[in-house]
Amino acid sequence: MLDINRLRADTPGCDPLIHLNNAGASLSASVVGAAMARHQQREIRLGGYEAADAAQAETAAVYGSVARLLNACTEEIALVDNATRAWDMLFYALPLKAGDVVLTSASEYAGNYIPYLQLKRRLGIQIEVLANDEHGQVCLAALRARLQGPRVALVSLPMIASNGGVLQPVQAIGALCRAAGVLFLLDACQAAGQVPLDVRAIGCHMLTATSRKYLRGPRGVGFLYIEQALCQRLEPTFLDLHAATLVSADAFEMRGDARRFESWECNLAVRLGFGAAVDYALDLGIEALWARIQYLAGYLRAALHTLPGYQCQDVGQPLTGLVTFTGERHAPAAIQHSLAQLPRRINVSVSGASSTWLDMRQRGLESVVRASVHAYNTEAELDSLVEALRRL
Ligand SMILES: Cc1ncc(COP(=O)(O)O)c(C=O)c1O
Repeated sequence: MLDINRLRADTPGCDPLIHLNNAGASLSASVVGAAMARHQQREIRLGGYEAADAAQAETAAVYGSVARLLNACTEEIALVDNATRAWDMLFYALPLKAGDVVLTSASEYAGNYIPYLQLKRRLGIQIEVLANDEHGQVCLAALRARLQGPRVALVSLPMIASNGGVLQPVQAIGALCRAAGVLFLLDACQAAGQVPLDVRAIGCHMLTATSRKYLRGPRGVGFLYIEQALCQRLEPTFLDLHAATLVSADAFEMRGDARRFESWECNLAVRLGFGAAVDYALDLGIEALWARIQYLAGYLRAALHTLPGYQCQDVGQPLTGLVTFTGERHAPAAIQHSLAQLPRRINVSVSGASSTWLDMRQRGLESVVRASVHAYNTEAELDSLVEALRRL
């Protein structure tokens, strides 16, 4: 059972505002800022390289924390600048060739879809978008049938869509991919910290995510998981002196672990803050966080359903912490702006077609208001949002 008062006391941003933009970037707990400040002070007092030496054990522990979060080994984790870079590093390392098919979902993040198009243009790969079932999730029967067909090289999709939060049946998708011998790249950007993740149970070969969303870490850090056996076979598009070593005038060797996908230079303070955020989440328990997030999102949806002039736009089963809606009288951007002007500011975001193009087009939506709840939010905060919407 989560102690909500403690959660809020740990979160300095809770008091002055109502933060419902956790799918954008959550409010961090104080321990996150403290870990970053500690390392910044070390850098100021010792010098950046010397501070890194002094923080070696703490830095190594971050990999252990992420590995625990995912039920992976530390050798299978790499830390990079953001989720997109994590995803790019894996996707562009895959040995895709002309005619290879990438299967994705209509809920795909446009930032991932653009690289598909780029390799379609550059290499001649094919992109196929899987049909949805009646819940708006990937149709497993269609996936099973397509995996039996020719030339599927990769299944790649987001676990939770950034608009409307459709949660894909990733364990079933993973099992189908394993049975067909097809690689599965899972974008867990909105899922990490919200939903329990177990890469072995899911069966994905690769997974990417960020610090700043449901894990409540700082901005500027993302991470990837790659299964050890696959890692040995992939050569990152970019290599530096951390990822590889020059062994002669015409030969280099790559690291054996996932850190071959990293760069040497990084913001260590941010990584340590991220480690503190992961530890904080693990300490609370991801199962408990997920239960609380589902409860609060359900509470908000129930209230929205009774509010005249607003339509909840969420699809999927089960639903997630990302609650999306449109209003009949005001555009999403105007709603966001009005909520931000309130004496106790309410932060929501607007999710536009540019980030989930296929799904928004399919559903005939231009943009939606996204009120994404986290465990530290309260029923009273959600009541305030609903009341503010009623008065708009
Ligand atoms: C599903 C999904 N994938 C990827 C990203 C990109 O993450 P980042 O901005 O850290 O690169 C986002 C960001 O909103 C997202 O929602």
